[in-house]
Amino acid sequence: MRHFVTFLTQRPNILNLDSLPLYFEEQAHMNHTQEPLDESRQGEALVLPSENPSGKKLYLESYGCQMNFSDSEIVASLLAEKGFSTTRNLYESDVILLNTCAIRENAEQRVRTRLRELQHLKKGKPSLVVGVLGCMAERLKDKFLEEEKLVDLVAGPDAYRALPDLITEVETGQKAVNVILSLEETYADVSPVRLTGNGISAFISIMRGCDNMCSFCVVPFTRGRERSRDPESILKEARDLFEAGYREVTLLGQNVDSYLFYGGGPKKEFKALSPEEQAHAVNFAKLLRKVAEIDPQLRIRFTTSNPGDMTDEVLQAMADYSNICKYIHLPVQSGSSSVLDRMNRGYTREQYLDRISAIRKYMPDCAISTDIIAGFCGETEEEHQDTLTLMQQVGYDYAYMFEYSERPKTLAARKFKDDVPAELKNRRLKEIIALQTEWSKKRNEEELGKVVEVLVEGLSKKSDQELFGRTSQYKVVVFPKHNFKAGDYVQVKIHSCTSATLIGTPIDSME
Ligand code: SAH
Ligand code: F3S
Repeated sequence: MRHFVTFLTQRPNILNLDSLPLYFEEQAHMNHTQEPLDESRQGEALVLPSENPSGKKLYLESYGCQMNFSDSEIVASLLAEKGFSTTRNLYESDVILLNTCAIRENAEQRVRTRLRELQHLKKGKPSLVVGVLGCMAERLKDKFLEEEKLVDLVAGPDAYRALPDLITEVETGQKAVNVILSLEETYADVSPVRLTGNGISAFISIMRGCDNMCSFCVVPFTRGRERSRDPESILKEARDLFEAGYREVTLLGQNVDSYLFYGGGPKKEFKALSPEEQAHAVNFAKLLRKVAEIDPQLRIRFTTSNPGDMTDEVLQAMADYSNICKYIHLPVQSGSSSVLDRMNRGYTREQYLDRISAIRKYMPDCAISTDIIAGFCGETEEEHQDTLTLMQQVGYDYAYMFEYSERPKTLAARKFKDDVPAELKNRRLKEIIALQTEWSKKRNEEELGKVVEVLVEGLSKKSDQELFGRTSQYKVVVFPKHNFKAGDYVQVKIHSCTSATLIGTPIDSME
């Protein structure tokens, strides 16, 4: 299990948008990128590109998934409208907001430790407002506000429009809280400010909440009901980004395959729509096509796909457009049908493997990654072996692997015992990681000798004479800089690799 340091020191503000799935914290391991998801993602100071020096100073720190980083951009935008400026310096801030994550227990522990550290600051500066946003808000509002008195303000994921008023309330001496979850809010009309990205790739939130109720997962409780955002507002955001020089957008949702816009409001099945609504409804496949048509130079990614909902129509749309990246993150969680049933995932091992075959049929060159949980309630040795054999069968390019951690309120917490001993969870996780490391290396070795198209994201971390970028399959490629720059598409011949990085030479300089 990776442990991350907590910090009071200043962190680099680079919100390095270099990883796809929806969560960052305490991943056991990731065979994913050359830039491992370092601890700076555990709580990152986010700042606006241009500042209003006279405004009140906001220190905004984001934890957890990409959805949270994307939400932080919405928060910054809403507060900038009210004259706030952002700061990277805790000590000069008037308002400190932590955008929190509740997906596993460790994630919550880190935020608690951080809040205790911030208490010291508050002692020296009683006017300081400290607030908690995001997924821990609903769950721990009473604890934070009343019992432990750690914060002045608590705002849930659907309450960000109320933030300016909540801050004013605190300034008049009250504790302020709004954790109401909405059936409609998608912040469709808020143009998020881009907080210190690389200027090349950005996230666009296309839906909020989740209705799936996987038995281990706290998200449906913390983020509420699923709702899809108006496609016109998504397209506008993508077009604006392209015009501003961005070359890649990642469409974000907990279950993008269930995206369905029929006019607004909570999720409905297509068949439950009126004929009028059906005629105008936009599903995920249609949305993908529309975004892909903005410009062939704009790459499209998305996350997260759901094995129970991913249709051939989506795969066909991906195959039809070369600018829709050939990469799918398809969380399996377990290779055992009986565990999947206890997890309430809505598919069996066979059904999952059928989706893998469909991906390979439509796009033989598609990279596939996954999420795996080791040691879910009641997991037997045989069920664990099923996960290993499934991994062998699929041969994932990358994986995010976690030990099961019981979350309050979830179906699993109510129905099952968290009965796999810690050492056993840990041993199983290690076996899963070892197997994945082999596969990641094998998948990268398959690229040797090939020419790949790389979208350059910036300078390599290791040398300013080298650039780094990604292939359509999300593989990180490092190559000599020559005259190329961020935002260029470069043909690179791969000559060597590690399990995380491909190394090559641009072909125009090979003669
Ligand atoms: N919407 C995504 C996942 C969101 S949570 C999906 O469809 O799968 C991100 C990942 O965290 C999950 O895929 C799961 O692997 C892991 N996770 C969620 N709850 C967990 C828990 N209680 N313990 C351990 N891992 C968990
Ligand atoms: Fe969680 Fe399952 Fe939704 S993992 S986010 S309940 S798809």
